[in-house]
Amino acid sequence: MDSKQFFKELDRIRDIPTLPVMVMEANRLLEDPNTSVAKICAIIEKDQAMAMKILQLVNSSFYGLPSQISTIRNAIIVLGYNTVRNVIMTLTIMKLMPKKGVWIEGFSAGDLWSHAVEVAVLSRHLTEMADLKWANDCFVAGLLHDIGKVIQFRFFSSMFEAVYQRSLQENISFFEAERRLEVVDHAQIGGALGQKWMLPPILVEAIRYHHEIPDNVNDPSPVLLVHAADRISRTPENEAVLCHPKAERFVHLYRSLDKAKQEAIRQEIDACNRFFQDEG
Ligand SMILES: [Fe+2]
Ligand SMILES: [Fe+2]
Repeated sequence: MDSKQFFKELDRIRDIPTLPVMVMEANRLLEDPNTSVAKICAIIEKDQAMAMKILQLVNSSFYGLPSQISTIRNAIIVLGYNTVRNVIMTLTIMKLMPKKGVWIEGFSAGDLWSHAVEVAVLSRHLTEMADLKWANDCFVAGLLHDIGKVIQFRFFSSMFEAVYQRSLQENISFFEAERRLEVVDHAQIGGALGQKWMLPPILVEAIRYHHEIPDNVNDPSPVLLVHAADRISRTPENEAVLCHPKAERFVHLYRSLDKAKQEAIRQEIDACNRFFQDEG
């Protein structure tokens, strides 16, 4: 199947996950700095379950805020529009991504989910260490970067299995196996999904190009940070991390941290995994 055919097919599938209307609406409003806080509150508070979860998440160790936030209004004021948008996205993704079940022998939904959480937390740390402004965007992009694999597995399962088997047989990465099989890769699929969900372009870009950095990439940019985090996550500690030259300095930032700091990040990844596990 060539890529044109593939995307046609993808468009035809009716069960592709969609974002709830409230999330789309909140996304749109939060993107516009002229929207009033009252308007955003009204949209979010329509969905009480979501409103409660937002408060739970912003008060978790995740955001490390000095005091408890008890209303959506305060959350918006303290955290700002962009962060609230990312909190909503995080909660929505948690619901959409499967976390349980063995997909194929040796590969489970839980593996993919914990990898996503690891890349999310690492991307956020790399961004902060490099003194860049996208910490929360990178967190969401990290959670979503491999979402294309979920689509592959659910709707193109024979393709997923062929790629997975090839990666085992030839001891290569999933992405390399996709290339050798000349199928539409999970990064492109994830990018298409992000576009469908009308995610901000920087997130779509980070998902779409996390394996193949385009020559004209902005430097720095979230795509380089997510790429670096993904490479770190996939490389054993005692091996050199292979990545795009423009991402090397971010990898270096992480690898030159002392053991105690790396351990603290590990613990944060574990805590984050537990938080999401409880949310099921
Ligand atoms: Fe990937
Ligand atoms: Fe990945």
